[in-house]
Amino acid sequence: MLYDHLSINTQGHLTIGGIDTSELAAEYGTPLYVIDEDVIRKNCRTYTQAMRKYFGEDSAPLYASKALCFKGIYPVVESEGMCVDVVSPGEIYTALAAGFPPEKMFFHGTNKTDADIGYGVEAGIGYFVVDNFNELRTLDRIAGSKGVCQTVLLRLTVGLDPHTLEAINTGRVDSQFGVPIDTGQADDFVREALACRNIRVAGFHSHVGSQIFESDSFVRQIEILTRFAAHIESETGHHTGILNIGGGFGVRYTDRDPLQDISGRISEIADRLDRCCAEFGIEKPVIYMEPGRSIVADAGITLYTAGGVKEIPGYRNYVTIDGGMTDNPRFALYRSEYTVLNASRMKEPADYECTVAGRCCESGDRIAENVLIARPERGDLIAVLTTGAYNYSMASNYNRVPRPAMVMISGGAARLVVRRESFEDLIRNEI
Ligand SMILES: Cc1ncc(COP(=O)(O)O)c(C=O)c1O
Repeated sequence: MLYDHLSINTQGHLTIGGIDTSELAAEYGTPLYVIDEDVIRKNCRTYTQAMRKYFGEDSAPLYASKALCFKGIYPVVESEGMCVDVVSPGEIYTALAAGFPPEKMFFHGTNKTDADIGYGVEAGIGYFVVDNFNELRTLDRIAGSKGVCQTVLLRLTVGLDPHTLEAINTGRVDSQFGVPIDTGQADDFVREALACRNIRVAGFHSHVGSQIFESDSFVRQIEILTRFAAHIESETGHHTGILNIGGGFGVRYTDRDPLQDISGRISEIADRLDRCCAEFGIEKPVIYMEPGRSIVADAGITLYTAGGVKEIPGYRNYVTIDGGMTDNPRFALYRSEYTVLNASRMKEPADYECTVAGRCCESGDRIAENVLIARPERGDLIAVLTTGAYNYSMASNYNRVPRPAMVMISGGAARLVVRRESFEDLIRNEI
């Protein structure tokens, strides 16, 4: 089994957090997102403890809301002592509605509109992560008009390619995110920010990519950022208090993905940080990271009901499910791989090669290709693992498919945290 919180009971059913998945499906229906809160908490603690230990007492992880944003996630991460990264007024609104303190939010986004900026300033957001010159000037103006001096991090592009998927690679010079160091534009960006009357520069941010398993890109990122911080300090006298090095540690979607030693990776990055600060003669900054996927992905599974099999001799076997790209568009977007199980027949051999196809009128609507599972009958429960991140948050109503419900489990008990959408929900805004 890919993860410790998954197991098989005497009936041969998949269990999560000690609960039979067939009971969850019977009570809440399918498709169903199931999120194990205890796993989320364990992941938060791994980061919190390792970052404090290796980077210093004030360093901390922020939870990247974009991975899984719904009201119920915020009390969990807040009680783990975490701040959050939010990327839109919608995410801010959700976090505020959950009672999450605005001063613990870091507001990202590559094109914040005037309205977004006004909303963030009025809400009392702790830190804006300013992406570009346009935003800087607009934020200075709007903050000034509201009598606020807004604290910011400046988003920089460090010119690194972490060799991850094109669509989740953000660190190269040619990126729509941040201001590049290599072109010299970052120098001007910092100077202009320091001159803004209504902005206080607390530090720099950069994010090199996602689903990264080695520490090499983070280590090189630290070298570039500390060298840049030293350069800015010698040119302007401004000391960099915070370096936010983004999110991006990988998770195991299949057993071909390596086990990730987050604490070990953080210790390697911290080691380089210490050496760079000594070499470049700067005081060690506070380090923030913004993990999303590695906080919630392995905590989640999705349960579907199989529609049966369609066998095309000499070609392929299809297993159809009652969800697909509407609740998990990641195969359609990135051809992401997943581990699929027949949750109803965990004691039978997983020797039936098939492609798991969704219910939409779209030939790209697949969850996995050529996977081995126990041959399903119509009505069997199909489980897709590692769906806690970028599934619910990327879900759509394509083909007018209502979004699934979500249950959160903890200490062997399940509770509904997101209701299943109804047909009325689908037409709610239509006049
Ligand atoms: C700026 C920023 N921070 C954090 C994250 C979270 O990354 P991950 O979910 O891979 O940890 C992302 C992901 O796109 C991001 O763009």
